[in-house]
Amino acid sequence: MNGHTILLGGIGGDSHSVGLTILRQSLSAHGYQVRYLGTQNTLSDFFQMAGMANLVMISSMDGHARYYLREFPSFRREFKTNSTLWYLGGNLGSNSGSERDYLEMGFNRVFLNFIELETVLDMLTRDLNGTETVANYPALWEQSMPATFSLPGTASDALVDNETFETSRQEVLEQWKTGSGARLLAGNARFLLRQPSFPRIQAQTRMGQGEVLVQPRSGVALVGEQIKLFKNFKRAGVKVLSYQVDSLTRNNNYVGAEEAIVESRVSGVSTINGFPVINHGVTGLRRVAQQIRVPLQTRHSTRDPRLLAEISYAGGVTSFEGGAICYNIPYYKDYPLRQSLKTWQYVDRLTGLYYERYGIVLDREFFGTLTATLIPPSLAIAVNLIEAILAVQQGVKCVSLGYAEQGNRAQDIAAIRTLRAMGEETLRRMGHRNIQVNTVFQQYMAAFPANTAHAEELIYNSAITATLSGATRVIVKTAVEAIKIPVLSDNVHSMGLVMRGMAEAENHFVDEIRIAEECAITRREVDAIMEAVIMSGGGCIAEGVANAFNRGILDIPFSPSNHNRHEVMTARDVDGAVRYLSCGQLPFDRELREFHASKMAERRRAEGLLENENYLLVERDVMSIPREQYECWPLDAHLEPAPLEPFALTMNAN
Ligand code: 5AD
Repeated sequence: MNGHTILLGGIGGDSHSVGLTILRQSLSAHGYQVRYLGTQNTLSDFFQMAGMANLVMISSMDGHARYYLREFPSFRREFKTNSTLWYLGGNLGSNSGSERDYLEMGFNRVFLNFIELETVLDMLTRDLNGTETVANYPALWEQSMPATFSLPGTASDALVDNETFETSRQEVLEQWKTGSGARLLAGNARFLLRQPSFPRIQAQTRMGQGEVLVQPRSGVALVGEQIKLFKNFKRAGVKVLSYQVDSLTRNNNYVGAEEAIVESRVSGVSTINGFPVINHGVTGLRRVAQQIRVPLQTRHSTRDPRLLAEISYAGGVTSFEGGAICYNIPYYKDYPLRQSLKTWQYVDRLTGLYYERYGIVLDREFFGTLTATLIPPSLAIAVNLIEAILAVQQGVKCVSLGYAEQGNRAQDIAAIRTLRAMGEETLRRMGHRNIQVNTVFQQYMAAFPANTAHAEELIYNSAITATLSGATRVIVKTAVEAIKIPVLSDNVHSMGLVMRGMAEAENHFVDEIRIAEECAITRREVDAIMEAVIMSGGGCIAEGVANAFNRGILDIPFSPSNHNRHEVMTARDVDGAVRYLSCGQLPFDRELREFHASKMAERRRAEGLLENENYLLVERDVMSIPREQYECWPLDAHLEPAPLEPFALTMNAN
């Protein structure tokens, strides 16, 4: 135990918190007193606290470090934290300054790119050797921590009444000038009725009349370009389409999106990372819908999604992604749950109204992927079930429950099967009949291998898992995932791999015994979580969600949110299945806890690690895929029975 205090946090707009989470863990395991600021801090946040620390570690992940740190020298002069050491790391980006620039600014150590944990730990030992530890001021620390605000009042499961809805709606439609174009629900309904429908095509797939629906991702700045992309996808045989909304729109910055549209028009290339739906408005979106004639979906992660939902549906979109948990905890540092619950109840109510008034069924999808990193199926499923219940309470008739592949085939198949079964049972038991429940298999969503051949092998084998799981839909990755946002050809190539994987699936046996074991354990965990969530809200699900996060009954690993306890830690077992390394406050009984503990002990033995080196397991698991330190995909392929016919995997672009 060395007792030095380290202040740790991320700077700037980025919400990636996987690296910070691992660093926090390993520093604590080495006896440091860690003061953790999480993501999205300003320089001022760091300097306010720096006097209470021996060393400050700032991480910057989005390549804009130089911009965020431009006032660092003047802060140092003002705050006179002379005895404090300053480290800078993360992903500083090649055009964001050299090591020397930052050293001259006043940093003591600079790590421009990814660096091994052990190297950082060694340097810390050297740099802090002989330094007096700072006094520990817990009360002062508490006071200076930014407060997490809770909304007054309680969340409710009640149907949003017409008056409340209409009052909010006036405000929502005035958020941007294109809002008025969505006002007339009856007119929107007339247009929507003529559109190909997500729920309808999913129902056909569900009834075995079609294959798994293959869905690529896309999103560009201009309507014409988006139409071109979609037409090409359609030509390649895609039956459902979606656009990713750009990050300016996701942050409700429509002025910025307007500028980006103009810029993209002038320069002839898209200068944003998605389709700015709000700015294009109902007219722009209807142009897309009329030319494409394929069921459309909006995918985003917007903090206030209400206007986006209004314009999406009015423009002919029949599926809308997101929810109060899945578009909050993995994305935002301080977004109170009671507020996101209310916001998403508006979206669900709007979705429900289209059915009640005009008989139009619209699909609501939930992002069970969460932070994408080492998410155990039971957490993904519990969040999906809760969001489905909340949606159905507002009149939603069709839900798509999402899950991101983790890499152990038996566990992934079990997850999709349990998701479907528990989704249907839960809604039925709560008295909601005739709800269409779909499952969505997202190909591996965490850091991808950069090597094209490895990425292709992953995508192809993942398609086999998706098919064997019986998911309604599979959302495809591309071989350039680690490198850039994919263009059309990347996606078309990838869809080819996925189709071949789907065809190959019938030659694969699944190990029903292993799958049944995974189903049983997952179901037990989900039951425990669901029961505790409902209890903690005194029977009210919405209030239960807010309380559950507060108490750690729900706790999403690697998330940036202040409203999450961060006591749950996860890692892989020897076969690559994701297990709980720490169950935190999850309401698991002794047997469940012992199950995970024994899986983790087995893994530590296999790796020759001690219990206080758990953080190394997490680091290895987070990094093994992007570093390509794994044998094959899926990770449990060595346990699979051989395929019916031997096959050679030849991957070329045709
Ligand atoms: N076009 C294509 N793919 C996109 N993604 C995000 N935005 C776009 C876009 N505009 C993909 C990323 C990642 C996933 C989250 O979505 O490549 O795989």
